[in-house]
Amino acid sequence: MKGLILSGGKGTRLRPLTYTGAKQLVPVANKPVLFYVIEDLVEAGVTDLGIVVGDTGDQIREAVGDGSRFGARVTYIQQEAPLGIAHGIKISRDFLGDDRFVLFLGDNFIRDGIVPFVEAFQDDSLNAQILLYKVPNPEALGVAVLDERGNVVRLVEKPKEFVSDLAVIGIYMFDHHVWEAVNAIKPSKRGELEITDTIQYLVDKGLNVKASMVHGWWIDTGKMSDILEANRLVLDTFETRILGEVDANSEVYNKVVVERGARIVNSIIRGPAIIGEETQIVNSYIGPFTSIYHHCLIQDAEIEHSVVLENCRIVDIDQRIEDSLIGRNVEITRSPLKPRAYKLMLGDHSKVGLIGNGR
Ligand code: G1P
Repeated sequence: MKGLILSGGKGTRLRPLTYTGAKQLVPVANKPVLFYVIEDLVEAGVTDLGIVVGDTGDQIREAVGDGSRFGARVTYIQQEAPLGIAHGIKISRDFLGDDRFVLFLGDNFIRDGIVPFVEAFQDDSLNAQILLYKVPNPEALGVAVLDERGNVVRLVEKPKEFVSDLAVIGIYMFDHHVWEAVNAIKPSKRGELEITDTIQYLVDKGLNVKASMVHGWWIDTGKMSDILEANRLVLDTFETRILGEVDANSEVYNKVVVERGARIVNSIIRGPAIIGEETQIVNSYIGPFTSIYHHCLIQDAEIEHSVVLENCRIVDIDQRIEDSLIGRNVEITRSPLKPRAYKLMLGDHSKVGLIGNGR
């Protein structure tokens, strides 16, 4: 069985981070979401992987390379424009041939991996398998309607009216019948070849489409709150591991990972938290559910329940930063100049919550 990972897309809900970076490379507990996807596939024995990339293809290639460090072999497939998930399948025809394959969206995150689902799909009588997860917001996703015996009857992309709360998550399995489907369907109103229409085509042809429920959590890491939630859930599974330096004036407790080359000086780290390689935490407080990536400096500051990407400097801030996602190379410092004021240089679509003076 082969694996196809989609890592194109514009990631509009994660702007401004996604103006310059691929959404699939945003780290969760200091590891890009895409790496969890690759690891899930490899764990299920799927090592021959195609990755469909778009504008951010160079970054994905640089991060993943030839896949050997994951025990996989990676072929890159360039998608000229984000024309839909089924379009991503269509342009991967040469790579996939007539093999059975797992399609995994590069921003989907699943707690318990995919091993049992891949095993179930070894059964050749199945033509496709979809994974369903009960959600509170079906209008934002593709959903499936099942009959009383659990057979898939209908799929609807982003339903305006309630038809089902079973989301079709971004992990699918297909056999060669998918080729007929992706060639037959037409672009939807949003101009994309939809995966839900592809599956509907297979159902309408009377092919054997199995629906399996996912019970551990699943997250589509499309927006900031999803990244923070995924980060919280993963950090909570960590054990304490101190590879860097923690000085005698610091306190580190409750599931804290301090990576190689990191230095904790006169600070409190209350986990679950991870401090990345070569990052320095000086005279600061890092609170629960916080991931600070590599080569950052946090000095005289307090941060909690946040994700900070690489090469940031957060220095001399007297208000605690909470519930925040901070992109690469960001500087947050006290303005040295009079008049005392916030001095901001923010990218398009940035969001900042300032504290008022009790007014
Ligand atoms: C896509 C699919 C949708 C699926 C979702 C899962 O949505 O179209 O059917 O439920 O991924 O992440 P999109 O990310 O394009 O909004």
